[in-house]
Amino acid sequence: MNATELLKQDHREVDSLIAELEGASGDTAGSYAATFTKLKNSLTLHAEAEEQIFYPAMEQFEETEDLTEEAYAEHDEVKQLLEDMTGLNPGDEDFQELLAQLKDSVQHHVEEEENEMFPKAEELLGEETLETMGNEIETLKGEASDASRMASA
Ligand SMILES: [Fe+2]
Repeated sequence: MNATELLKQDHREVDSLIAELEGASGDTAGSYAATFTKLKNSLTLHAEAEEQIFYPAMEQFEETEDLTEEAYAEHDEVKQLLEDMTGLNPGDEDFQELLAQLKDSVQHHVEEEENEMFPKAEELLGEETLETMGNEIETLKGEASDASRMASA
């Protein structure tokens, strides 16, 4: 899979995890904690893949430089929200309020990338580069999942 296809796949996964967590409203058993961990891991890894592999390629073009800069700032916002949500019960109101902000932020990120940045990437980088980057992203993710397996063993 090429880089933009992989990143789009992440977006869909994140959307569905957020939707799942919205259903945690009022749950006191804390049974959604694992879903939040999944969301946090998924978003963190997605941001890493974009910041290490995709954005450095996009910021070198004048027409996508500003868009990329904005994207970095939005990642920081998402990371801060995830930090603030950590340790809260997904069923609590505090968590749900932060989740709503996260959802807005993610939606904005997804629209900007899928409607503007990805089509530009296809045009400016071309299929071959996107394929190579896709492989790099898969490698990065493979390493991350090996590391977390070792950490939990
Ligand atoms: Fe993204």
